[in-house]
Amino acid sequence: MTISFNDRVAIVTGSGSGLGRSHALQLAARGARVVVNDFGGSRDGRGGSATAAEQVVAEIIAAGGEAIANTANVTSEADVQAMVEQTMDSWGRVDVLVNNAGILRDKSFAKMQGDDWRAVVDVHLNGSANCSRAVWPIMREQRYGRIVMTTSTSGIYGNFGQANYGAAKTGVVGLMNVLHIEGEKYDIRVNCLAPTAATRMTEDIMPEEILGTIAPQNVTPAVLFLASQDGPSRTLLLAGAGCFTVAKLIEAEGIYLDEQQRTPEKIAENFDQMCDLSSGREILTGSEHVEKIIDRAKQHNR
Ligand SMILES: NC(=O)c1ccc[n+]([C@@H]2O[C@H](COP(=O)([O-])OP(=O)(O)OC[C@H]3O[C@@H](n4cnc5c(N)ncnc54)[C@H](O)[C@@H]3O)[C@@H](O)[C@H]2O)c1
Repeated sequence: MTISFNDRVAIVTGSGSGLGRSHALQLAARGARVVVNDFGGSRDGRGGSATAAEQVVAEIIAAGGEAIANTANVTSEADVQAMVEQTMDSWGRVDVLVNNAGILRDKSFAKMQGDDWRAVVDVHLNGSANCSRAVWPIMREQRYGRIVMTTSTSGIYGNFGQANYGAAKTGVVGLMNVLHIEGEKYDIRVNCLAPTAATRMTEDIMPEEILGTIAPQNVTPAVLFLASQDGPSRTLLLAGAGCFTVAKLIEAEGIYLDEQQRTPEKIAENFDQMCDLSSGREILTGSEHVEKIIDRAKQHNR
């Protein structure tokens, strides 16, 4: 089965460099008309220029594809709205949104200032929400949409010095969970990518000897799969160095305590059993968890 993006329109945020550039090039190579968005700033989110986006557009056109440049700052709702209007005016639809734009302001939590926190959360979490909200009515109307959020192992597992980034990156997993539920009946599928790649974002974080094995183009096939017509929804796919794997949150079966046993000591006593994942399972909605505990409580009270 060949995955094609013929007749599809894709917006890739932050695609003037690194992973986004690779996603834009590969989507275009498979037929998508691509909006190459990038505000062209520095790694910590300062400055800005149209050059980055324009260069990627030139590459796509030189390879025979179709693309337009856009310099919206994803933190600005007005910029994002204008980007989506530009897309609709040019091509009349939006099938794929890849929320990829990102910045870093790494510091230990002890040294992190409010500005560093807000700037990072604003780009990754609010930026992903702004772009998703702007395409949402179009995707609902079309009854078709594919949204890929970019999360990170720094959030889903944690990484020293990245409290702002980790919190924002786990925030987009929550955004995926809810948009998956709300988008399902409109065939809007929402997934998360957790990439590992050598880009300007990681060049001084990762050891030099591994940078060669983690080129961005090794990650992009995962995005194309997640954004494809028959792709999954609510999937967190980790990709890098040719390795692809899915991560899930599993809830242990847990324990039930009778009313007189509901003490912190009893919880301490039974903690190992609460942590036992051997009969754990994935819970697909908040209400499913509530049903599980109510059923269990009822069984014990019969
Ligand atoms: N490289 C990795 O190993 C890695 C790991 C985990 C997650 N990520 C995520 O992947 C995404 C891409 O990162 P990358 O490694 O390619 O870094 P990068 O710095 O090369 O690319 C990020 C791009 O986003 C653009 N951008 C930043 N803020 C923007 C804004 N407000 N509006 C529009 N564009 C903006 C930048 O100009 C830049 O071109 C990011 O979300 C990053 O957090 C990367």
